[in-house]
Amino acid sequence: MQSDTPTVQTSGPATQPNSLDSEWFRISDIPEGSARLVGNVAVFNVAGHLCATQAKCPHKYGPLIEGHIAGSTVTCPWHGSEFDVCTGAVLRGPAVKPLQTYRVVVEGERARVENMQQTDAK
Ligand code: FES
Repeated sequence: MQSDTPTVQTSGPATQPNSLDSEWFRISDIPEGSARLVGNVAVFNVAGHLCATQAKCPHKYGPLIEGHIAGSTVTCPWHGSEFDVCTGAVLRGPAVKPLQTYRVVVEGERARVENMQQTDAK
């Protein structure tokens, strides 16, 4: 007697050849002096060193990856607060709260952000 339990098939390999797991990104996607959003974290390439911070300015939530980047300093595009993206320190207000920073793990030509929050909904 046959069981009428349906057969469940899982599709293909976990990763596709030309794609990365969502938490990994290609280092080459973030050229020196630029920034990119990875999940809800901003990743900055400071002279070949990757620094990750919260994506939104702690003042009024301006999008930091759209700010001017000079060395390790990003200027918030909304009201001009400046932060060191590698330490999170406030260099110039009106923001007073430092940026949350995250460790970036590099593996070959790819990297991921450690302890990245899944959501920042509050
Ligand atoms: S939102 Fe960034 S300085 Fe105001």
